Amino acid sequence: MFSKEGKVKDVKTPRVCDVVWHDGEFIKWNDARVHVMSHVLHYGSSIFEGIRCYSTKQGPAVFRLREHMQRFLNSAKIYRMDHQWNLDQLCDAAVELVQRSGMDQCYLRPILFRSLDEANPAFGVNPFPNPVACYIGAWDWGKYLGDEAIEQGVDVCVSTWNRLTPNSMPPMAKSGANYMNSQLIKMEALLNGFAEGIALDDRGYVSEGSGENIFLVTGDVVLTPPLSSSILPGITRDSVIQICQELGITIKERTIQRAALYVADELFFSGTAAEVTPIRSVDRITVGSGGRGPITAKIQKLFFEITKGERPAPGDWLTYVNQKKDASSTPEGFARRSLETNTEDTAPILFQAAARD
Ligand SMILES: Cc1ncc(COP(=O)(O)O)c(C=O)c1O
Repeated sequence: MFSKEGKVKDVKTPRVCDVVWHDGEFIKWNDARVHVMSHVLHYGSSIFEGIRCYSTKQGPAVFRLREHMQRFLNSAKIYRMDHQWNLDQLCDAAVELVQRSGMDQCYLRPILFRSLDEANPAFGVNPFPNPVACYIGAWDWGKYLGDEAIEQGVDVCVSTWNRLTPNSMPPMAKSGANYMNSQLIKMEALLNGFAEGIALDDRGYVSEGSGENIFLVTGDVVLTPPLSSSILPGITRDSVIQICQELGITIKERTIQRAALYVADELFFSGTAAEVTPIRSVDRITVGSGGRGPITAKIQKLFFEITKGERPAPGDWLTYVNQKKDASSTPEGFARRSLETNTEDTAPILFQAAARD
């Protein structure tokens, strides 16, 4: 019924971890299953995270584990999902999963969802009668937007679909249901021959990609939409902001008009899956010189050096799983400065309530 020609390829997954963490125990991958009548399958009642573990000379290191797990807890709180896990327990579970996986690098997927009590089934929208289940899985994942994207950039479009509005499905929660909106954006982009779509917010300002935050370079200034533009408070976004500050590059949160994308000197996406990916065209209009711009390249270089453990991070960004402790350091001069913003969103950036400007 629907043409999918050439569009079914996914990111390469060379390997999955054969164990999964489930509510405090490690179970086999093949046993990590749910009933088809589970609440989550019908009503989208899940929250989740996506975390990368990088290969470094000191073994696998999980990138910004605590920040991801804090966002996970925040998403659960927004959706009133009662569970028994605290930040330390979730971080320890993730570390042990990587240790057991034997993988040098991987992508971690914690998920908390409304399940089914088969002895006392409940099928209504009301989520409260349903038990909540927590899992963490892991797999080896390639470059999200393609192997060449990191160097050459991607061709994207502005989506006809808007991003979620803050008072419908809160974009600051990473809920499974939000990704129905992301799927509309992604499918439209792929079927029209683009790698990704950029969604506008309900006012028509630039929001984000289906699974990435966006940055715009104009002259020597880097701009990114504020949380009030219906974005997910990206951990990579926060890392890019801190990297800009380290490099002495001016970085500001600004509402951004669609047309500003076309006349930007450089554009790039940030995200756990996409990392730092240049955008070379929007709606078939070439951005800048049509490749990876010099400021994007500088930011990307530092990002990859940090994630490979080759350069100290501005904070405890890497959790070395073989040492079971946070092993990064805060070098002198890498102090965090506040971010200039034109909105009521005041820095710091990560988990504040998103005000509307
Ligand atoms: C909609 C959306 N925006 C932004 C991001 C980037 O967030 P992060 O850098 O925390 O992965 C993601 C990725 O999870 C996303 O799905």
